[in-house]
Amino acid sequence: MKIDVLTLFPEMFSCLNHSIIGRAIDSGLISINSVNIRDFSENKHNRVDDYPYGGGAGMVLQPQPVYRAIQSVKEKQSRIIYLSPKGKLLNQDLAKELSKEKHLVLLCGHYEGIDNRIIENYITDEISIGDYVLTGGELASMVLIDCVARLITGVLGKDESYIDESHYDGLLEYPQYTRPRSFDSFHVPEILLSGNHQKIEYWRKFQALKTTYLNRPDLLDNKNLDDEEREMLKQIKSEQVGK
Ligand code: ADE
Repeated sequence: MKIDVLTLFPEMFSCLNHSIIGRAIDSGLISINSVNIRDFSENKHNRVDDYPYGGGAGMVLQPQPVYRAIQSVKEKQSRIIYLSPKGKLLNQDLAKELSKEKHLVLLCGHYEGIDNRIIENYITDEISIGDYVLTGGELASMVLIDCVARLITGVLGKDESYIDESHYDGLLEYPQYTRPRSFDSFHVPEILLSGNHQKIEYWRKFQALKTTYLNRPDLLDNKNLDDEEREMLKQIKSEQVGK
């Protein structure tokens, strides 16, 4: 996958050259190219922002440099994504969909935002990474790159599968433990030492449902539970009564 990032701060993206994403870049599975929007300014002082029409606080990114930056990287099939708190929420399903694309263009806003004519006419997707406001789209772009890139075949090693992790099957992940068996007088759940894979699987599903129920009950609204899971949920709810 090829990713072009349009930003006023291209140097911020060097932090992606590490760990799993760094290896994916080195092995050619993904390429990340940051483009400085300021290089496309037509202003003799390289300005890219101006006051908002109608008044109000802050500055707005002008359409011309953003348009020219988009045109410099755009291909026939590009997904052109503007990162913004007004966008559609990024979740695992959207990340999976994007991981199948050949070319992403990520546009990072700053100041009070960008001229709306760009959003209306040249953007294919407006995406938010959560219900909070960042100072710019760069960190949001990096979050998107990280969670999309790791879903591309070959990026995670075969021991780093995402099959069991949180949000894969609409549930949060079950708890994990490693050596030592006892730590500061806290013990690893006996069931995980039993060698009984059926019981371990049942326990893990129960724990995944419990964590989801306690931390993100909204996720259960969209999930079709089977008979076993419905029974588990009843038990989890009754355990919570009086707590
Ligand atoms: N830019 C500022 N806040 C953002 C958010 N929550 N998601 C994506 N881009 C942003």
